[in-house]
Amino acid sequence: MKKVYIETYGCQMNVADTEVVFAILGKAGYARTEDIAGADVIMANTCSIRDNAEQRIWGRIDQFQKQRTERPGTRVGILGCMAERLGGKLLESGKVDFVAGPDAYRTLPRLLADVEDGHPRAEVELSREETYGEISPVRIDRNGVSAFISIMRGCNNVCSYCVVPYTRGAERSRDWHTIVKEACECAEAGYKEVTLLGQNVDSYRCGDIDFAKLLAMVAEVSPSLRVRFSTSHPKDISDRLILTMAAHPNICRHIHLPVQSGNDRILEKMRRRYDRAWYLERVSKIREVMPDCGISTDAIVGFCSETEEEFRDTLSLFEEVGYDSAFMFNYSERPGTLAARNYPDDVPQDVKTRRLEELISLQNRLSLESNRRDLGKVFEVLVEGPSKKNPAELCGRTGSNKMCVWPDSTHKAGDYVRVMVLDCTQATLLCKLVKDI
Ligand code: 5AD
Ligand code: SF4
Repeated sequence: MKKVYIETYGCQMNVADTEVVFAILGKAGYARTEDIAGADVIMANTCSIRDNAEQRIWGRIDQFQKQRTERPGTRVGILGCMAERLGGKLLESGKVDFVAGPDAYRTLPRLLADVEDGHPRAEVELSREETYGEISPVRIDRNGVSAFISIMRGCNNVCSYCVVPYTRGAERSRDWHTIVKEACECAEAGYKEVTLLGQNVDSYRCGDIDFAKLLAMVAEVSPSLRVRFSTSHPKDISDRLILTMAAHPNICRHIHLPVQSGNDRILEKMRRRYDRAWYLERVSKIREVMPDCGISTDAIVGFCSETEEEFRDTLSLFEEVGYDSAFMFNYSERPGTLAARNYPDDVPQDVKTRRLEELISLQNRLSLESNRRDLGKVFEVLVEGPSKKNPAELCGRTGSNKMCVWPDSTHKAGDYVRVMVLDCTQATLLCKLVKDI
């Protein structure tokens, strides 16, 4: 049996896709390996979201050449968003034997056979229908506790900075029957948490089933299966979704709600299709219905023509919302996007860097304040495994997605425990065990 090794970069969606690729290749007679040195086929499932993501992967492709020269016959392939964006250019580099975009994974067995016959190939056609719906992914066992379920693919939003609609194509929803079936399979296999994934889960639709209904059906698979989802778009997150969360205790109280900017002119230029007031109203609604709901975000600083004052609006919005956590980025121009075609990338690098540092340091304070508000509280936590820093401690997340650690020698990954928060850092709640559930 030929052995396949895959490295996965980028978002959770790519992790889910790698699991689909292992399923497709498993059926075609390939075995999975985690040892690159013993692999017959080496692949990288790649990300194009920012230039530095791509640069890092080019560095890895260079390193793969060592395997190719040491063991002639070893094949190197590129999957994912960079495969879609660069296609044949990757083959022209001479460092890659085959390329498959996000909608071309079913062709991989054929592609690999062609490569063996001496024909390097790039398969990058996007599809309006492909959802890999009926494929049961081969879980890349992270901890045997938490699984990703992809519920839709692609994106129709076309935010002006974003490469995703070009690399992942038009939005399409996976048949809800296959999603519920996959959630049941996860529960039967002992998983305790599933995360429903899509670029914009709120626009999920399959017949009469919208995202709120889908979420309720998945939550009803088993009361001991926690359900998470990502990512929500602020323009689409509905009251019905918020009420559905509130009605199901096993839907985790956490919403990732990327704001991108706190300034209306910049939001308009980003084509986000909401304004600051709309965003803040959605946050109020979430908190009115679920006061304990964790809220996290993504933000971009230094978008085309962003002034200092406009950047300050992002700072003040962060302060106003008091996020529990955030991912923050410098704007990186992506070829082919609306912004790249229409607006100069004119905020100097040093200004972007300084703004990013300022935003990160504000968020560090907000994260610490958020954690301090939890001192003395008791949470139900799903054990993920030993803490990375101290093997005598276990770690796991609250429903609101905060990482907890506590001394424990009696529980294991997959158990639910109750912990009380005694102390905290900006990243972690330091707890003690209260009692079993
Ligand atoms: N530059 C910087 N950050 C970006 N993101 C998306 N496109 C870009 C870009 N061109 C960020 C957004 C998004 C997250 C996944 O990546 O904040 O929510
Ligand atoms: Fe990266 Fe976006 Fe593609 Fe995910 S969808 S791999 S974040 S470019």
